[in-house]
Amino acid sequence: MSPTRIRHLHARRVWDSRGRPTVEAELTLHDGSVGRAIVPAGASTGSREALELRDGGAAFGGLDVQRAVQHVNTEIAAALCGVDASDQGALDQCLIELDGTPHKTRLGANATLAVSMAAAHAAAASAGLPLYRHLVGDAAARRIETSPLHASIVPAAADAASRQPRGPATLPMPQIQIFGGGAHAGRRVDIQDFMVLCPAAACFAQALEWTAEVYRAAGQVMQRRGRLLGVADEGGWWPDFDTNEQALETLVEAIEAAGFIPGEQVAIALDVAASEFGRNGRYRLGLESREFDSDGLIEMLLRWIESYPIVSIEDPLAEDDLAGFVRFTQAAGRSLQIVGDDLLVSSAALVREAAAAGAANCVLLKPNQRGTLTETLQAWQAARELGYAGIVSARSGETEDTTIVHLAIGWNVGQLKVGSFARGERMAKWNEALRIEERLGHCARFAGAAAFGRCSA
Ligand code: PGA
Ligand code: ZN
Repeated sequence: MSPTRIRHLHARRVWDSRGRPTVEAELTLHDGSVGRAIVPAGASTGSREALELRDGGAAFGGLDVQRAVQHVNTEIAAALCGVDASDQGALDQCLIELDGTPHKTRLGANATLAVSMAAAHAAAASAGLPLYRHLVGDAAARRIETSPLHASIVPAAADAASRQPRGPATLPMPQIQIFGGGAHAGRRVDIQDFMVLCPAAACFAQALEWTAEVYRAAGQVMQRRGRLLGVADEGGWWPDFDTNEQALETLVEAIEAAGFIPGEQVAIALDVAASEFGRNGRYRLGLESREFDSDGLIEMLLRWIESYPIVSIEDPLAEDDLAGFVRFTQAAGRSLQIVGDDLLVSSAALVREAAAAGAANCVLLKPNQRGTLTETLQAWQAARELGYAGIVSARSGETEDTTIVHLAIGWNVGQLKVGSFARGERMAKWNEALRIEERLGHCARFAGAAAFGRCSA
């Protein structure tokens, strides 16, 4: 029996950062290696995402996940027992076929993704590698012997391997939220994420240092105005503003107050999440009681790009407005990163469709939008072939799970978005990336501004 075959699989209900139930899977291989992973949950979800299976009924607002947990503990465990966890593609194919539906509506993408990620962790542990290095598939890094004694040498081997860099790896440019909004802040403002990134930072650690200063300065500005009211779902300051644009002005003020040159050292990224306030080509900014058609919204965003140091905009238009996306991309895509989240839902097929139409130049990658690591990777591979950039992203409902940090590095995606610079479920991810950068030492590369998506002329 191969040492990386699955011996035992178990799921349990755990709780996410909004106090809602979610699925954790734990998987043991024949050599004793263990992998564990927890799935996150979105609030501003795209309609074409794979299904997050919830129980309905009275308990926890209908959000319990006992059915998804049971699917892992019965049907999935039975099907995967004896399957080789080191062949992620074949394992994920088993999950896809077992479910048998295009959007995981039978077993639930929360059930399948928990297992898919736990398997990757177990396989990495068995190889004695940190997950990101296992994902690289670096043959030289896979040389730790498997033997009958393997189970007992795994912890020592893993420790040794994780401290020994084996060739360069690229740390992602972080996109970090300063003000939350939209569905993550009771729709206090319409725009969902006001974020910063640090194009002039020399390394990942420095990007975090600069962001920490900006985050603090933004809190001080809000306090001075008597508008410091806590934080939103992803840890960004609560957006107590009179207009959406006021958040942009305040962000520039915070960047300057922190001692940085806006645009040069620290720039702005937005997630408009326009599907939350628009459909059928009509958009309504509730805060300002203003209505637009697609061209009106595009005009407003183009004016913002002129007036503020914005380098990236996610979901500038709604998921049903491909034509609007195309027009916006034609108008701004050569100098602006235009990210498809609800538009692309981490789907290789939708990335190809968007590329054929000329919409967006960057894909957001959220594994729970698809339900397996392999399908998420396929979206990234399709994007890369088509000249798109990528961003690995957390969800607004998160946990201490740090798998996505390893995906961003192991798949060499170049950018990572996990929310703000506060709250443990966010900091767990930033801190994991810091550890990896430190261990890599001189082998650590930083993606920098070269990771941003741009349309070619
Ligand atoms: P969500 O938000 O997890 O609530 O979907 C994150 C995003 O839109 O990028
Ligand atoms: Zn988004």
